[in-house]
Amino acid sequence: MSNSLRFVIKGLKASVENKEILKGIDLEMNGGEVHAVMGPNGTGKSTLASSLMGHPKYTVTEGTAVLDGNDLLEMEVDERSRAGLFLAMQYPSEIAGVTNSDFLRSALNARREEGNEISLIKFIRQMEKKMKELEIDPQFMHRYLNEGFSGGEKKRNEILQMMMLEPRIVILDEIDSGLDIDALKIVAAGVNSLRSEDRAFLIITHYQRLLNYIKPDFVHVMMQGRIVKSGGSELAERLEAEGYDWVKEELGIVDETVGQSEEDEFKVPMNTIAPKY
Ligand SMILES: Nc1ncnc2c1ncn2[C@@H]1O[C@H](COP(=O)(O)OP(=O)(O)OP(=O)(O)O)[C@@H](O)[C@H]1O
Ligand SMILES: [Mg+2]
Repeated sequence: MSNSLRFVIKGLKASVENKEILKGIDLEMNGGEVHAVMGPNGTGKSTLASSLMGHPKYTVTEGTAVLDGNDLLEMEVDERSRAGLFLAMQYPSEIAGVTNSDFLRSALNARREEGNEISLIKFIRQMEKKMKELEIDPQFMHRYLNEGFSGGEKKRNEILQMMMLEPRIVILDEIDSGLDIDALKIVAAGVNSLRSEDRAFLIITHYQRLLNYIKPDFVHVMMQGRIVKSGGSELAERLEAEGYDWVKEELGIVDETVGQSEEDEFKVPMNTIAPKY
């Protein structure tokens, strides 16, 4: 009954550049669970990921995201990371001047008590082992973070970070995009190797293909900045076969995107607004 991990998002609303994109997200995740988030382009999936992680562009206006009784949304980004939150971004940033290994070692040590830092030897051994599992060339240890990495190399490197940091809440935003078939299997195996009762996954994807390798317990569909439908893995299979039109019809949704049309802000048709002068 009592799972070791429980993460509860309630009524999360967030804006970007004064446009409300998330319009009230409710989601509960327990240890051991994999939740897939699907949905057409521009419906708020990455905004959900970035808002949870604390990206400065995204302003949370309402809601809570509670892990172990603490609201992550009230923490700084580094505190969220130390609390066990991890995000593999849809578009990982390149950081010139910081090597992959320096970055990872700082990230690991930032989570440890002062004086209890991981030894260099132990760190290198661990990193080499994980890189081997992910079939990443050892040279990548010394390259600047993501600089000049191919699309697939960046995604694999995100999974390397995940495997080294062993986070408790893992958010993967389109980790499958740009991966060839073999890399997809390697990445999925990396994710599956971390599945455990004290960890939960939120996996944003467009394709069933990834979910064939990482079987989700729950599938959620996002439209208009909300989770509009949830189900089991069969929901993803139906979406793959039939697309999103049936969901839109069922729910009476005409435009599933968020933040693009003026209607979000202007309920009154534009031509009825009187000119100022
Ligand atoms: N940093 C930003 N600056 C401006 N607009 C943004 C920003 N982030 C998100 N938006 C807008 O919010 C809306 C939702 O974007 P989001 O990236 O969350 O969609 P998504 O569901 O992840 O789509 P996709 O499947 O294409 O990745 C879009 O209209 C997008 O342009
Ligand atoms: Mg996205």
